[in-house]
Amino acid sequence: MKKTWWMSVVLLFMGLGLVAASVNEPLPSDYWDMPQAKGKAHIGLENNMRPEACAQCHEAQFNAWRDSKHAHAYSPGLVGQFPGAGHGAGNECLVCHAPLAEQLYRDEGDLAATLSTLLENPEGFSRDADLDAKQAKLPLRHAGVTCAVCHVRNGQRFGPPRRGSDVVGHLEGAAHGGFIATKDFEKSQLCASCHQFPQSYAINGKPLENTVFEWQQSSFARQGVQCQTCHMPDRKHSFKGIHDVDMVRSGLNFKLEKKGRLASLTMTSVHIGHAFPTYVTPKIWVKADALNAQGKVLQHWQWSIVREVAYDDDWKETQDSRLMPGESRIFIADNADKNITSVRFYIDVIPDAFYKGVYQSLLADNLQPKAKLLITKALSDADKNDYRLYENEMQF
Ligand code: HEC
Ligand code: HEC
Ligand code: HEC
Ligand code: HEC
Ligand code: HEC
Repeated sequence: MKKTWWMSVVLLFMGLGLVAASVNEPLPSDYWDMPQAKGKAHIGLENNMRPEACAQCHEAQFNAWRDSKHAHAYSPGLVGQFPGAGHGAGNECLVCHAPLAEQLYRDEGDLAATLSTLLENPEGFSRDADLDAKQAKLPLRHAGVTCAVCHVRNGQRFGPPRRGSDVVGHLEGAAHGGFIATKDFEKSQLCASCHQFPQSYAINGKPLENTVFEWQQSSFARQGVQCQTCHMPDRKHSFKGIHDVDMVRSGLNFKLEKKGRLASLTMTSVHIGHAFPTYVTPKIWVKADALNAQGKVLQHWQWSIVREVAYDDDWKETQDSRLMPGESRIFIADNADKNITSVRFYIDVIPDAFYKGVYQSLLADNLQPKAKLLITKALSDADKNDYRLYENEMQF
């Protein structure tokens, strides 16, 4: 078809429209390369990078963040693995767990000292935002993925545009020299540096952390539903995930049915923007018991939902039974036995299944005494995280 002059004008305006809508002030391209938070421009409270300091003015964010996994990323299970490996190897892990220049270990002395301070302060920061509390004097690494990790570089604050506004770039504010507003804070890519491994690390075609890629393949990405939409609703800093029963329930749909003597449970991933679960670390057990009138179990079924990898010369994937976004799976209890009067389905979640195995094998080794205390604590904490996701019974 030959273009008429007015079509060209329409196309030109559409082009301009696109440019106008996509105006953004992108984050510096080295935002995640050896990040450093502190700068020279501010003094006192405004140059204090501790979360307790931010909390003096940003209480709502602090109150939500302090219960999130990000706040506890400098954990006994992490640090208990470092002695023996050395501070350099430790820093390679801190790249995601406490990545600021102010958080990394300078030497072996730092690492040795941290074992005691962590044992004495497993919480890591003062929950009541008290800058005079003894926890607020701990090295910043104890605050894990703290506010400044995502928001501050060389003293400069970066954040999303103000609520209800589209304005990007440097904005004046009543503290810390204002901030740089960028729409990059509203996009999934912001989470990629810690929640996505490069394809070169793939095992059976998929990196161990593949969350952003899984999201890109889903209908959520096409509809513009970002990580933040689900994990920071209304900008809330709670970052709930597999450890929170209500969060997991919000992503799934269950349907219990019977057909003749068959009982079935259909599970559908309706609101999870990646595989359920996205990591190799959780494990989900779907189980069914067939009972007689006296409540005795006559038959038992179980299925697992997990991506399992094992190391044997090289990493191998031994199983991947996870549910992809939108996928349904049907679990069938074929209870032919006429004495069966009811079938009970139940689902248990073990959020830290993989790590429990790691901790058990570490404890079987000859660990340095303080590392042993840390790993023992990590194992008992991990055990407390298991929960029942679903339970329902049907009569025959
Ligand atoms: C003395 C009070 C004060 C302290 C301390 C403080 N802030 Fe702020 N912060 C402000 C004010 C005021 C604004 C500007 C709000 C506006 O103009 O919309 C702001 C804005 C921000 C924004 C941008 C918000 C948006 O809408 O995008 C971020 C992000 C931020 N601060 C992070 C931090 C972090 C992280 C810390 C601690 C390292 C911190 N602030 C410490 C007062 C403070
Ligand atoms: C600097 C690295 C880093 C960045 C950036 C980051 N995360 Fe995390 N995230 C972590 C680490 C490390 C953990 C695990 C903490 C722990 O349990 O030790 C975690 C845990 C989580 C969890 C909890 C998982 C569970 O087991 O329940 C969620 C949800 C999450 N992150 C979402 C996000 C989202 C959404 C973003 C982007 C807005 C993001 N993260 C950005 C490092 C990061
Ligand atoms: C690319 C980012 C990244 C790197 C590098 C990384 N982790 Fe993590 N780690 C995470 C995320 C995200 C989670 C939470 C999701 C999960 O449960 O796997 C996590 C969870 C953990 C946990 C369980 C939760 C906790 O804090 O107790 C341990 C233990 C852990 N990591 C240890 C390590 C060790 C040891 C290293 C270095 C060998 C390391 N990590 C390197 C991102 C990372
Ligand atoms: C893992 C990264 C991450 C961490 C850690 C984090 N934030 Fe944020 N923050 C974000 C993202 C992403 C947004 C924008 C969310 C959106 O637009 O949906 C945001 C938004 C904000 C805003 C603007 C809020 C609003 O309602 O307009 C402030 C202020 C802020 N953060 C302060 C903090 C403070 C203080 C802490 C520590 C207690 C903190 N952040 C920890 C990623 C983070
Ligand atoms: C449509 C909503 C939705 C979107 C979009 C979404 N998530 Fe989730 N996410 C969930 C739900 C629900 C869970 C709990 C069930 C589960 O663990 O899969 C979860 C769990 C997690 C976990 C816990 C660990 C695990 O193994 O499951 C992490 C980490 C996480 N999400 C990170 C992200 C990141 C990073 C993005 C963006 C690339 C993202 N999520 C996008 C809903 C969402």
